[in-house]
Amino acid sequence: MKIAIIGTGYVGLPSGVGFAELGNEVCCIDNNLQKIEKLQNGELTIYEDGLQELFERNLQNGHLRFTSSMREGVENADLIIIAVGTPPHPITKEADLQYIEAAAEELAQFLNKYTVVATKSTVPVGTGDKIEQIISRINSKAEVDVISLPEFLREGFAIHDFFAPDRIVVGTESIRARKLIAELYKDFTTTKILYVNRRSSETIKYASNAFLAVKLNYINELADFCEKAGADIDEVAAGMGADSRIGHKFLRAGPGFGGSCFPKDTNAMSFMAHQFGISMPLIDTTIAENEKRQLSMAERILSHTTTDSAQIAVLGLAFKNGTDDCRTSPAINIVKEMLKHNRNISVYDPKAMASAQTLLGNEVTYAENAYQAVEKADVVTILTEWNDFKLLNWEKIANLMNQRIVVDLRNILDEKILLQAGFKYYRIGKKM
Ligand code: UDX
Ligand code: UDX
Repeated sequence: MKIAIIGTGYVGLPSGVGFAELGNEVCCIDNNLQKIEKLQNGELTIYEDGLQELFERNLQNGHLRFTSSMREGVENADLIIIAVGTPPHPITKEADLQYIEAAAEELAQFLNKYTVVATKSTVPVGTGDKIEQIISRINSKAEVDVISLPEFLREGFAIHDFFAPDRIVVGTESIRARKLIAELYKDFTTTKILYVNRRSSETIKYASNAFLAVKLNYINELADFCEKAGADIDEVAAGMGADSRIGHKFLRAGPGFGGSCFPKDTNAMSFMAHQFGISMPLIDTTIAENEKRQLSMAERILSHTTTDSAQIAVLGLAFKNGTDDCRTSPAINIVKEMLKHNRNISVYDPKAMASAQTLLGNEVTYAENAYQAVEKADVVTILTEWNDFKLLNWEKIANLMNQRIVVDLRNILDEKILLQAGFKYYRIGKKM
């Protein structure tokens, strides 16, 4: 199948590589010329676990191409997938559709045979109708089905999620479009494919992410409860998760959720609800509590410093492990909050140093490795759940630091090792 993907970001690029690996002829389009040039030269523009090998293989065997020309990419395509960003409006927080609309206007000119146009970007309910109107305004003869094909790719696990999805949701009532998507996913014999109407599909995406955000807010709230109650959040989560109605996933307490999706999608959902004249207090509370939590985590770290000149080492800047993405990262928000208190902060992340630098500028010291970051520090805090931090030599770290205090906001380190090395070790959701 000939597939064009518009937008080569954290969603478009892994999807393009995945469809190429399945044997399709994929052309990825992006209006960022620098990105396209790099990708054409075999250089990846994002870090995503497992992407490199598949990217190189499919570039070499010709299944995968890159272009900045919409015409070159979409002409003769059977399927066009829109994966440009839908960032939140800075004030209203509604999803900004300008890139989606621009992509629809441009691609419409080049439709020359029956084509399915699928929206993979997360878009407000009703966006499919808008895209359909744009296409028919620009090219009234276009033979097209506009469908919703939401992505459920976790950053850091995007390749895994692409090849082993829990489900595939297809939003269209067109039989012809459903057939094309069934052909696309014909090798996914054990995966449930849900065919629903377009607005249901658009809603499923927001509903899923909002539900997971609520679940995280709940486990974080429970962590606070455990600290006061003398319970242990990891034990409580294990006990709750063993109930198959609850499940073990998404029960890791932490500094709050972040990333390019949960904060954006919960806000967009709340905005849509208000537009429909209803309110969703559960979602609104989740958004507000998550923001508050990150500030309180900054205070928690600061409370372990005894002087204003104390030095804090931050390990982890990405919003989660497995990615270099720092968009709406709790780690970045926490560092920014601590900077307001004029602390000396050194930072290290195995993959996200460059993207963190664009957000933190010159206000922190960038270390080349974790050992350099902790030199002379009074407190070290873990803000991203990278495995690398578990494997550090904590004896060595103890000797490099000024004071031996670890505030682990991801509960990933081994308590025994830390105590043996002479640390005071603070975690989330454990007896204080
Ligand atoms: C995606 C989705 O689009 C978003 O709706 C979803 O909720 C999360 O994932 P993401 O891949 O993370 O966004 O965005 P980003 O990494 O910013 O990539 C978007 C790409 O589209 C960029 O490479 C950008 O250059 C490109 N783009 C943007 C275009 O090609 N054309 C445009 O008009 C705008
Ligand atoms: C999310 C959706 O999960 C995915 O299906 C797709 O819609 C894109 O958006 P992503 O944002 O990449 O994926 O990451 P995810 O794994 O969902 O984590 C989001 C945030 O929640 C991160 O900050 C992560 O650290 C946090 N998290 C996740 C926890 O704090 N605890 C958990 O148990 C799980």
